[in-house]
Amino acid sequence: MKLKQYFEKHRVALLWTLFAGTIVVVFLLGLLAASVTERRAEIATLFNNKRVEIKGIESRSEIWGENYPREFETWIKTKEMEFESKHNGNKFVDVLEMRPNMVVLWAGYAFSRDYSAPRGHAYAVEDVVHTLRTGAPMTIEENMQPATCWACKSPDVPRLMAEVGIENFYKSKWSEFGHEVVNPIGCADCHNPENMNIAISRPALTEAFDRMGKDIHKSTIQERRSLACAQCHVEYYFKGDGKYLTFPWDKGMSAENMEKYYDEVGFTDWIHTLSKAPMLKAQHPDYELFMMGPHAQRGLSCADCHMPYKSEGAIKYSDHHLVSPLMYIDRTCQTCHRDSKENLLKYVYEYQDKILETRDRVEEELVKAHVGAKFAWDKGATEKQMEPVLKLLRAAQWRWDFAVASHGASFHAPVETQRILSHSLDKSYQAQLEVNKVLAQLGVKEEIPVPDISTKEKAQKYIGLDMPKLKGAKDKFIAEKVPEWLTKARENKRLL
Ligand code: HEC
Ligand code: HEC
Ligand code: HEC
Ligand code: HEC
Repeated sequence: MKLKQYFEKHRVALLWTLFAGTIVVVFLLGLLAASVTERRAEIATLFNNKRVEIKGIESRSEIWGENYPREFETWIKTKEMEFESKHNGNKFVDVLEMRPNMVVLWAGYAFSRDYSAPRGHAYAVEDVVHTLRTGAPMTIEENMQPATCWACKSPDVPRLMAEVGIENFYKSKWSEFGHEVVNPIGCADCHNPENMNIAISRPALTEAFDRMGKDIHKSTIQERRSLACAQCHVEYYFKGDGKYLTFPWDKGMSAENMEKYYDEVGFTDWIHTLSKAPMLKAQHPDYELFMMGPHAQRGLSCADCHMPYKSEGAIKYSDHHLVSPLMYIDRTCQTCHRDSKENLLKYVYEYQDKILETRDRVEEELVKAHVGAKFAWDKGATEKQMEPVLKLLRAAQWRWDFAVASHGASFHAPVETQRILSHSLDKSYQAQLEVNKVLAQLGVKEEIPVPDISTKEKAQKYIGLDMPKLKGAKDKFIAEKVPEWLTKARENKRLL
């Protein structure tokens, strides 16, 4: 009774309290909801607060940069050219000038004209346009390379493949797309714009997986942090008349397995002009060799060392300045290894020095074998007599190139790289022994002559290259054709 009277008396006040209480609860619930949404929004900002909507294959990375300024700003740094480690770096280095033996090893192949160390991704298009390896095609007929040569240089490539068809792209001539392939390696090479996941833009990688019975779409995020790179940093060849870009992984990824593949399909990159051996040119099996090394076996991916995380306030993002990890040891090696910078550098340099020691020996002996084979031909050797020599030369040089063309291999997979090089040295000596047998059969008593190939110029002259003519034609091409391409690209809004 008392309680009822109490209620009657304070009815208004109680109703007000209830009302206020409800407001507080609603307010608190609102706060909680807001905080959850805010956190989700924080994650989603990256993808939903896009300033521009990216549709289709957008090869102009500047446009992606509007949405992802941090990744863009670090990506742009691949233009920098001042880092140098003991054996690598992002500077321009004329490799043939440093190691003229390579001119002789590639006699008859475009690499003997010109070969420089890789630079940052920002230079991919510029470098392939300027190298003497692509010649000076003022007309379509003058092309020495197919359009396949653009395949690892630009996000304009997947865009063109979508437009003209994959097969048509490969079987076109290189210069046909000079005004189309103008943006260096960029966002669309590695990302799906809808969710920014790693997307495989190059059909050759997906096709190689298919042939190995693996579904690339089932790969894990960690695997994709390497597969993004495996679109280009791999061994490949141009298959058949259609010059279809193909990775020779059907029998496995070791030097021997790929060689078996090439031998079975009867593939030859070129005939060596001195020894007449049917040669293979290894490209840059970075991914394949890395996978055989200690870090891959512990589950690391390329991005763990080449795209370390960077912090900006509360935001953590992937550094897109793809470069030697020795440039930022504090953010690469030292995130996992509690060791000094000096020690970490020492480990890398020790692996590299020991392997390059063997490499230098191989190059000397391999040159001797080619020169000896030429001498035997000059003295009248028959094809039958030379058969074992040529076989050994092909096998020896394939192994040398496989180990050397992957610039990171001596650190990525030191034991495997040293193993391949030791087989190369063995086969180079065997080839020389076979040459000596042929010379003995022919009754030749003279010593094999030793050419002077002490400089790039001398070596190029020795193999019969007319460098002034090649350079003259290239200069004309760069002065006249390239500006034409760029003007057209700007008119068509291919370039910003
Ligand atoms: C060579 C391949 C490659 C290129 C080119 C590339 N990215 Fe990435 N990107 C990656 C990889 C690998 C990751 C890490 C993905 C992961 O860990 O899941 C990444 C991550 C990202 C992320 C997720 C957040 C982060 O930073 O980790 C964004 C956003 C991004 N990239 C934007 C860009 C933009 C913008 C460009 C062009 C300016 C670009 N990327 C070019 C490979 C690439
Ligand atoms: C679309 C093809 C393509 C993709 C994808 C690609 N690269 Fe490259 N990369 C190249 C080319 C071409 C060069 C040489 C450019 C030059 O010298 O002009 C290069 C050069 C490099 C260099 C040498 C840079 C220097 O400063 O010397 C490094 C390191 C590198 N790439 C790492 C990677 C890593 C790691 C990935 C994956 C996250 C990757 N690349 C993905 C094509 C590619
Ligand atoms: C454990 C760290 C680590 C991982 C993971 C790694 N690399 Fe490297 N990479 C290095 C180091 C160290 C070098 C040697 C750099 C130097 O000598 O300056 C190197 C060198 C290179 C180079 C030559 C750079 C130049 O300046 O010419 C390329 C290209 C490259 N790596 C690509 C890759 C690719 C592709 C992957 C994955 C398949 C990968 N790396 C995985 C540490 C790593
Ligand atoms: C994401 C982690 C990670 C990063 C980054 C990393 N490593 Fe490692 N590293 C490992 C692991 C894990 C092992 C295997 C260690 C073990 O089994 O004791 C290893 C092993 C090594 C070894 C011994 C290799 C062998 O033959 O067994 C050396 C040397 C090494 N790392 C150097 C480096 C250098 C130099 C860098 C930077 C360029 C680097 N690591 C970056 C994780 C990393």
